[in-house]
Amino acid sequence: MDLLVTLLLACTFMANLANAGNLYKDLDLTWGDGRAKILNNGDLLTLSLDKTSGSGFQSKNEYLFGKIDMQLKLVPGNSAGTVTAYYLSSQGATHDEIDFEFLGNLSGQPYTLHTNVFTQGKGNREQQFHLWFDPTKDFHTYSILWNPRHVIFMVDGTPIRDFKNQEAKGVAFPKNQPMRIYSSLWDAEDWATRGGLIKTDWTKAPFMASYRNFNADACVWSSAGKSSCTANSKSSTSAWFNQELDSSSQERLRWVQKNYMIYNYCTDFKRFSQGLPPECSLP
Ligand SMILES: *[C@@H]1O[C@H](CO)[C@@H](O)[C@H](O)[C@H]1NC(C)=O
Repeated sequence: MDLLVTLLLACTFMANLANAGNLYKDLDLTWGDGRAKILNNGDLLTLSLDKTSGSGFQSKNEYLFGKIDMQLKLVPGNSAGTVTAYYLSSQGATHDEIDFEFLGNLSGQPYTLHTNVFTQGKGNREQQFHLWFDPTKDFHTYSILWNPRHVIFMVDGTPIRDFKNQEAKGVAFPKNQPMRIYSSLWDAEDWATRGGLIKTDWTKAPFMASYRNFNADACVWSSAGKSSCTANSKSSTSAWFNQELDSSSQERLRWVQKNYMIYNYCTDFKRFSQGLPPECSLP
């Protein structure tokens, strides 16, 4: 027991040391031919998009459960047609995936925050939101809390979505496949602007999104097929591993869903005319 505590403390110390300028350590720039950049000694990452190409990065590590935070500042001004995707995903046809996607808009119009959860290759679980602030003015923290019982999406600590483990109802839950973080800035005017209604304004290119303060309190998957959990000073492994929404967080979740949710697959009776997916029925 003492040894474990010592190890945890050692991990805490190292995690804190590693926190400053850690983007080089945690992330790899994967595409975009120089359009993705890590700047300021590893404190800042920027993705850019022009008519020729977008850009992207991924995490060096794969994770199996964790609380993963990133601060993002989205493409400002007329960003219609641009999509900033930030997600966790495993590989293969039966992959699991946890998605944040930010759909740009005309100047002064709200972004759409699109979320989805894939399990065993099956998605179709979209929920979309507007935000209660302008996500292009400042950095805001977007978090995924992923433990064996919940996938909770959070914005500045406020939960916006809680995908619960409902394996008892026969709904697959992501719990066996390690996932990597991926992010990209790309052009999706056909999809992102209600079927290409609004075109991307390339005179405003290059478009740019910024990232900082990445933090993963997570179980890192190793090639040996084992996972090891790191802990930092703010939360020990067990805190997020067992975390659920307490009553005040549930209240905030309801506030977001009531005031800012603009699409919920669970109420789309037209789309699911044969019956809503099983996870949609109330307990
Ligand atoms: C852009 O803003 C309009 C007006 O508020 C909104 O209806 C639309 O859903 C927004 N589009 C995206 C892609 O966020």
